[in-house]
Amino acid sequence: MENKAKPNGTATLTYNGQSFDLPVMSGEIGPDVIDIRKLYAQTGMFTFDPGFTSTASCESQITYIDGGEGTLLYRGYPIDQLADQSNFMEVCYLLLHGELPSSNEFEDFDWTIRRHSMLHDQFDQFFRGFRRDAHPMAIMVGTVGALAAFYHDSTDINDPEARTIASHRMIAKMPTIAARAYKYSIGQPFISPRNELDYASNFLRQCFAVPAEDYKGSDVLAKAMDKIFILHADHEQNASTSTVRLAGSSGANPFACIASGIASLWGPAHGGANEAALNMLYEIGSVDKIPEYVRKAKDKDDPFRLMGFGHRVYKNYDPRAKVMRETCHQVLDELGVRNDPLLQVAMELEKIALEDEYFVEKKLYPNIDFYSGITLKAMGFPTEMFTVLFALARTVGWIAQWSEMVEDPSQKIGRPRQLFTGATPRDYVDLSKR
Ligand code: SDX
Repeated sequence: MENKAKPNGTATLTYNGQSFDLPVMSGEIGPDVIDIRKLYAQTGMFTFDPGFTSTASCESQITYIDGGEGTLLYRGYPIDQLADQSNFMEVCYLLLHGELPSSNEFEDFDWTIRRHSMLHDQFDQFFRGFRRDAHPMAIMVGTVGALAAFYHDSTDINDPEARTIASHRMIAKMPTIAARAYKYSIGQPFISPRNELDYASNFLRQCFAVPAEDYKGSDVLAKAMDKIFILHADHEQNASTSTVRLAGSSGANPFACIASGIASLWGPAHGGANEAALNMLYEIGSVDKIPEYVRKAKDKDDPFRLMGFGHRVYKNYDPRAKVMRETCHQVLDELGVRNDPLLQVAMELEKIALEDEYFVEKKLYPNIDFYSGITLKAMGFPTEMFTVLFALARTVGWIAQWSEMVEDPSQKIGRPRQLFTGATPRDYVDLSKR
């Protein structure tokens, strides 16, 4: 990646009778940044930003979010256009290479991904070591990290060819691993991927086909799955992507880095919110219970949050949630479950929350996780699989961001400092004197 930040004057920090000039840099769009890389050397002080709410951790050219406007661009293309007109394989190529592929480039890429979808035969023994009731995200963290034990020829991060093969392997094998985690949990035999099927259809068949009968897939559900993958593919420097970048900054191999991203995504404040949002809708249960839960969500002393609402960056409607809501209605119509009581609760909850002054004042809107759970449940996935599907789709984003970090000439190992408020130096006291 070529650094393209543009110098744009300086910011002056005045403190204790001293002034320090700090360079300001501009990107193509979005907020300018104050370059504080020399701040500690100049001032002997650190900045303090525990949740990184005001910190740009890197320069990137992959995904841009305008939280105020509610826009999301993958390499400059709006998410709603990609969801409506593209497909996940093409979006994978776009995120990795920066441009939409020509038809030849697409065919080559798609052919390659289809032929990396199988796992080493011994890999399947990993699954047998887990309890059947293990959470599938625990299985994903464990098995994806273990890929490094099978693909030594693509763990040298300084070899561009090895990075490309590892990227293709990760994108191609995540559906196979995810489907195996699901099949193992329900005690059904694993279904092999098929090269003649597109990415989403191949994944759905590995999840829902059984050897006892021919499998008939649904084009509507495959298209919906493909669209859900597009919506979840990347999202700037979110918690799991930042985890992947930090792990990768030490030179760790890509499989280990992706496993660290899966671990971070599992949290209910992040990718685990789709599972938590559906469980919340179950807990609310009926429309008449909604006011009680909205009150709990607003109560500072109550840890309850409306799962699927709010976002660190979006202070407007998450553009992915709009597409997700339309996809939800399409899937429920296709499956003839339009009057799913959970959907009624979700739509009424969204309506009430969007009119409530607390949510309006704090700019809390539905995010992508609010409608995805209802859709995935209708498609036949158990709640525990929802974050696995998020991880499957986000793998291409993690890989693209990891590659960009490895290729960034200004990249260093990530090593933040701290504001220390602990014990000052003191001498050891022998046990006999304590
Ligand atoms: C994802 O970063 C990404 O890009 C993530 C993601 C991606 O694609 O990678 O978009 C995917 O993780 C989406 C978010 C999924 N999480 C949830 O739906 C969980 C519920 N949401 C909240 O936990 C919360 O909104 C966060 C974690 C998403 C954002 O937290 P912030 O930015 O740190 O916001 P905050 O907690 O400081 O909230 C600001 C205020 C607070 O009130 P005050 O302290 O100012 O009085 O809003 C309140 C919060 O109490 N608030 C909520 C709320 N979310 C925030 N109140 C009730 N319900 C909520 N959901």
